Amino acid sequence: MKINGQQYQSIWFEESDNSVNIIDQTRLPHRFEIITLNTLQDACHAIESMQVRGAPLIGVAAAYGIYLALLEDPQQLAVAMDKLAATRPTAVNLRWGLDRVNAALRHTVVEKRVEVALQEAQAMEREDSVICAQIGEHGTALLQEIWNEKHDKSKPLQVLTHCNAGALATVDWGTALSVIYKTAESGVPLHVWVDETRPRNQGASLTCWELAQHDIAHTLIVDNAGGHLMQHGQVDCCVVGSDRTTINGDVCNKIGTYLKALAAFDNDVPFFVALPVSSIDFTLSEGLKEIPIEQRDAEEVSHLSGVDEKGELSKIRLCPEGTAISNFGFDVTPARLISKIITEKGVCDAQHSQLQRLRS
Ligand code: MRU
Repeated sequence: MKINGQQYQSIWFEESDNSVNIIDQTRLPHRFEIITLNTLQDACHAIESMQVRGAPLIGVAAAYGIYLALLEDPQQLAVAMDKLAATRPTAVNLRWGLDRVNAALRHTVVEKRVEVALQEAQAMEREDSVICAQIGEHGTALLQEIWNEKHDKSKPLQVLTHCNAGALATVDWGTALSVIYKTAESGVPLHVWVDETRPRNQGASLTCWELAQHDIAHTLIVDNAGGHLMQHGQVDCCVVGSDRTTINGDVCNKIGTYLKALAAFDNDVPFFVALPVSSIDFTLSEGLKEIPIEQRDAEEVSHLSGVDEKGELSKIRLCPEGTAISNFGFDVTPARLISKIITEKGVCDAQHSQLQRLRS
């Protein structure tokens, strides 16, 4: 991804000083700060506090967490696996990343564990970037088709997205935003409606920032505006990411995704989900009952963070003190509302038989 014209990843291993580095996403868009993770505790905190976030990035960060844990103590593999697995429950990439490093370590002598864990985490870092670029390329064909069929070419292709499924949610490129970046690169004129994505506002703070860095035209809207825009022909398609997809094609993504999919269905707007195969949970047959939905701190709902007119970071309370609050982080969009799933292996329907084929 480009940041102020320079190339960055959301996480990277610095060979020169053997450090694991991340962009602190809790500070964006107001401050651009890089943090070095030194310990297992740092990695757990980064995932839990959402300094790193987004399903694919969480998976890679967890793998580096194992490396850092083994650097501290090569005997603490099981403890590290448990601690990292407990940081966030919904994105299946966390478990996928941990299982992958664990499998690589299975036949490794204790003395070699650090080296092997690092190699695996670095491989995952490299692969994620390639996979996300491929997702973007496959999705571009879909968006080009919609553009070619669009009668009124006086307006650009209008794409709605929810949350941040961009380079910041992965190592690079993103999933939904990779489709947008690659479609724009292909020459299709494009404009993005960005849902603010309460309560943490990943759309307002991260997606708007990312799109601005890449000169992609975009407009921020409140979460409830999408249905209205669709009713008035202002959305040509929706593209979102996924934190976990079950084998029947149900997609779990940031809270509010389901309502966008319902509105899209009602208005004949194609609803695409872009995801790496690593976020398909092949052990679960159905999303609604089986995916654990993360519930987060009430303060994310009761308060808003941002900068005041002096540019100082500050937090304000929105509701009366003591208000009862519930804060579900994700919801499940049933397969029947999804037009296509876009993966690094190609585009398919949200159906058991087609998803099962991606397994190999
Ligand atoms: O709670 P977050 O910010 O980690 O949630 C992120 C999302 O819901 C993304 O849309 C999803 O992880 C897909 S990202 C490639």
